Amino acid sequence: MRTAPLALVSLALAACGGSANPPANPLDPNAPTWHADVAPIVSRSCAGCHVEGAIGGFPLITFDDARTIANPIRDSVQSRRMPPWGADNDCNTYENNRALTQDEVDTIVAWVDGGAQEGDPADSPGPVAPLTPPTLDRVDLSLSLAEPYTPQASPDDYRCFLMEWPYEERVWVTGYEVVPDNAAIVHHVIPFLIDPDDAEEYRALDAADAGPGYPCYGGPGGDIETLINTRWLGSWAPGGGARTMPEGYGVRVKPGSLIAVQLHYYSLTTPGPDQTQVNLRISETELGWADVQPWTEVAWVLGLGMEIPANTDDVTHVFEYTEEDSPFTLHDLALHMHTMGQSGEMRVIRQNGDEECLVSVPRWDFNWQTAYALAEPVTVNPGDTVRLTCTWDNPTDDDAAWGEGTGDEMCLGITLLTSDD
Ligand code: HEC
Repeated sequence: MRTAPLALVSLALAACGGSANPPANPLDPNAPTWHADVAPIVSRSCAGCHVEGAIGGFPLITFDDARTIANPIRDSVQSRRMPPWGADNDCNTYENNRALTQDEVDTIVAWVDGGAQEGDPADSPGPVAPLTPPTLDRVDLSLSLAEPYTPQASPDDYRCFLMEWPYEERVWVTGYEVVPDNAAIVHHVIPFLIDPDDAEEYRALDAADAGPGYPCYGGPGGDIETLINTRWLGSWAPGGGARTMPEGYGVRVKPGSLIAVQLHYYSLTTPGPDQTQVNLRISETELGWADVQPWTEVAWVLGLGMEIPANTDDVTHVFEYTEEDSPFTLHDLALHMHTMGQSGEMRVIRQNGDEECLVSVPRWDFNWQTAYALAEPVTVNPGDTVRLTCTWDNPTDDDAAWGEGTGDEMCLGITLLTSDD
């Protein structure tokens, strides 16, 4: 069906003697086809987000869905923008890796370049389920926005919502999952753990802003210290799924704490209301120490030494921390910069000089701040150094430095770590 019109187009072009170039996508009889080769890849790696009502914004299910945007699909996989996966898989191996293999990229590219042919449904290897993120095996506490919130700003609205902590004894959080309500607009979620001593301050922030929650670009408290000093329970972006702590460990939460859930809403059209929920798995029995630990140079936070001069590219700053006392083990890593960020990485430099890459994000994308889960946790021993590197381009006429605003920058590594001491 598709063959005839394309062939006619090329005949027509040849007839008017116009183009010496072949048509953009000539039909290649040996090229991969939708049913035989491409649909299985797209069903597994794209359809989870590209389905009606999900974050991807447009469906990518049927041949017609894909055919009409074949060129953008090719570009998105070739450039590795899609599926969103920022980590360089040569650096380390990740449990939650969702990148396409090079073979899969090549197949999609060859399909588009060969005329984006449908092929024969009989050649389909059968239905392939979308990569679905893991879920919690047990939910002990569900925290949810007290009332639905409709984003006020477009395309980006950053807002924090306070949630009461109901336990009257110390407990340990052993897993969390985010259940986005309006999945089309929820772009990232970070549950922050507010210490009982700070609870009043946060309640005041909430009270000072009309409607549910309060604006919170960057950290949960609207000032610089809170981002560094506030513990995270984790972080979630679309496709992320549940995260469970390593067996025998949990994040300790004191009674009287609050959870400040930061939501980044992203919408190009008028967004509808959202009432996202965070589910937690709790242990009331004492567990080993797990913590979501931010890494950065304290001086930077105080405004020293992280200058990013105006109109300058490739500005790099490095923070190193050498452990002196006790070993700890790294499980998950995420990076955080703002929109001038270009690339970042974390490494361990062993006492003997050997280096191990933990995470490297070669093309920083502010909109996709995922935690990368190491397939093999890495233990850092006394004498080892953790090195964090961030690189920015500053195209503006203003110098940039650490800060919360859109024109300011940050350089953070965020790790889930456990320790037995
Ligand atoms: C984890 C969710 C997710 C997955 C998986 C995903 N996408 Fe997307 N996609 C998005 C979102 C969200 C956007 C909107 C732009 C953005 O936020 O980057 C998008 C935009 C796009 C666009 C248009 C903009 C662009 O960057 O080119 C194309 C084409 C696309 N996706 C193709 C794909 C293909 C092909 C796959 C599978 C190989 C895929 N996507 C997998 C979430 C996803």
